[in-house]
Amino acid sequence: MQYEFSVNGQITRMSSHPLRRLLDILREDLGLTGTKEGCGEGECGACSLLLDGKLVNSCMIPALQLPGTSVLTIEGLGTPDDPDMLQRAFVEEGAVQCGFCTPGMVMASRFLLQKDPHPSRSDIRRALSGNLCRCTGYEKIFSAVERAAREGYGEIADLSTTGSPSSEVVFEDHEKDLFFIPDGLEKALEVLGQKGREITLLAGGTDIMPSLRNKQILPARVMDISRIGELKGIILDGKRIRIGSCVDNATLAGDPLVLDKLPSLAEAARSSGAMTLQNRATIGGNIMTASPAADMPPVLMSLDADLTFCSSSGERNINFSELFTGYRQTSRNAGEILRSIDVPVPAPGTVQSFYKRGSRAALTISRVSLACSALPGNNGIIRNVRIAAGSMAPTTQLLSGVMAFLEGKTLSFEVIEEAARIASSEVNPRKTPGYRKEVTGNLLRKFLLNLQEQDQKGGHQDVEIS
Ligand SMILES: Cc1cc2nc3c(=O)[nH]c(=O)nc-3n(C[C@H](O)[C@H](O)[C@H](O)COP(=O)(O)OP(=O)(O)OC[C@H]3O[C@@H](n4cnc5c(N)ncnc54)[C@H](O)[C@@H]3O)c2cc1C
Ligand code: FES
Ligand code: FES
Repeated sequence: MQYEFSVNGQITRMSSHPLRRLLDILREDLGLTGTKEGCGEGECGACSLLLDGKLVNSCMIPALQLPGTSVLTIEGLGTPDDPDMLQRAFVEEGAVQCGFCTPGMVMASRFLLQKDPHPSRSDIRRALSGNLCRCTGYEKIFSAVERAAREGYGEIADLSTTGSPSSEVVFEDHEKDLFFIPDGLEKALEVLGQKGREITLLAGGTDIMPSLRNKQILPARVMDISRIGELKGIILDGKRIRIGSCVDNATLAGDPLVLDKLPSLAEAARSSGAMTLQNRATIGGNIMTASPAADMPPVLMSLDADLTFCSSSGERNINFSELFTGYRQTSRNAGEILRSIDVPVPAPGTVQSFYKRGSRAALTISRVSLACSALPGNNGIIRNVRIAAGSMAPTTQLLSGVMAFLEGKTLSFEVIEEAARIASSEVNPRKTPGYRKEVTGNLLRKFLLNLQEQDQKGGHQDVEIS
């Protein structure tokens, strides 16, 4: 495909395979070798740069998503002879040894400082949590960011993106029937109506791109849906909150309506991968991947969400519980796009929690996850109890046994212990069953104890993740 995009302020015309990674385009085609490749699958942050002002991993971005965009790489900040203030701070604080992680660290730091010119150390720690360094140690890196912040980098760095590249694309003849960038939902549905399931929909690409690399296969046909306006936005529609399928995790995690009414969803988005991932990963992609370890499905099941699919023949609504038909399988029909996720506004006072446990404390894939929602009433009686577990079965599991047990009960020590026991026995994980069953029971106990405490205090907001 032929297209143009802006690289460090220069409009650049390129000819690339539509699935060629931005990382390779920069390093191999444009000779910009400052951006490094570590893991190649979104884990290390060595390839981080800014795409339209947002921090992303360039190993996860295919050329198909580049037309009309602006890219800022480490070479766009300063030169070895004339480094910018942030680059100089890294050198002066001794935050560089082998230097392999440094470009990614600097770009992640720039993204932080452009959003928050004076971050706390814990903000810095969190912002750089997706960038791995194997030799310097993080303290000097954090000090370098603090130094740049003190010197006013966030205020004086030129944060404007220059140039306005055209988003026009010319596909090669052999690509015309294989790759699609529709300019709106209607066009996308028209193409899907003709090709159906043969087309792989590409949203944030954070599941698709690593799977291409690992399996070394190319999907037959690919359609980029990430720019379709109708699939974005979060609105209050009567008694429901409608979330577009292409809303990314960073947007979800910071949206005032979501934070206020669906805090467990905001927390699940905030805990899903590093900032580079959150800026790309969409809620629709997370659901449609249909992984039992995905974080959104248990939360959406606990919130009793509905899904709206659309196709050239109209819209179809289903309850979330009707989506998964087996391991990584869904009831989506050929020619359909998941358009939105529709969540009923919880009754005032509803308490929500999302708990996630994995093999490490931060940025982990769930080995156990539990999403809970309940409405405490008078005298500690709880109603509207909904509990869903992830990573326990081939599909997300609604724990209907423990829900029925708890509905209308007054929370007491005995009730909480019995509920934890029922939850443990209700899940049947294939791997490490002893550990996962026990943790499920413990997490439910934790939710119920919090609920009891909140109720005694008269407050009703509880979201916790660790
Ligand atoms: C390093 C790393 C860490 C991760 N950490 C987490 C984590 O902590 N928790 C977690 O849950 N996930 C995690 N993931 C997985 C991934 O980031 C999420 O599942 C993400 O939300 C997928 O969204 P996407 O937009 O990138 O999907 P894509 O890769 O674009 O698509 C995924 C699938 O969904 C389909 N699809 C996308 N949108 C639609 C639509 N609107 N209609 C129909 N089908 C659609 C695609 O065709 C594809 O089959 C991680 C991934 C990586 C690489
Ligand atoms: S190379 Fe590791 S995240 Fe891209
Ligand atoms: S400086 Fe060597 S990996 Fe960070």
